[in-house]
Amino acid sequence: KGERTLAMIKPDGIYGNFTDRIKQVILENGFFIVQELMVQLVVENATLFYSEHSAKSFFPNLVEYMTSGPVLAMVIEKTNGISEWRALIGPTDAGKARVSHPHSIRAMCGSSAQRNCVHGSDSALAAAREILFFFGDISAGAGAAAA
Ligand code: CMP
Repeated sequence: KGERTLAMIKPDGIYGNFTDRIKQVILENGFFIVQELMVQLVVENATLFYSEHSAKSFFPNLVEYMTSGPVLAMVIEKTNGISEWRALIGPTDAGKARVSHPHSIRAMCGSSAQRNCVHGSDSALAAAREILFFFGDISAGAGAAAA
């Protein structure tokens, strides 16, 4: 049984037509995609999803970016899935990722510290919260899968 995490393709990834390539990387690396949802976030959604960053100077821009188009949220599953997905996407700053992690997903499709094309939960607690955010109680099994 694997560990589930929340992977999200952000609006720049969607509009850059990177969706298929990102999913290919996910599958080639042994993850199962167990749920997916394409959705347009509104300001209230993005504010809630990123509430831990609400005091940061980049927060208003982050909310504007995350509501600029649809996102594709996916629950993906693999042994050590949370850290494996974080490793695959690479550093937050896509510009730095291009130098230090040239094969990472953010190096492939991101363009800056903000416009980094994908998201990954950074802990088991975050994964549970973020899966619940997009998929609701029907994903309560995510907790069971991680246990
Ligand atoms: P993510 O990993 O989804 O989590 C928080 C997001 O905030 C991050 O990706 C970026 O999109 C954005 N972010 C983080 N750091 C910065 C920064 N220094 N400047 C602008 N945006 C940032």
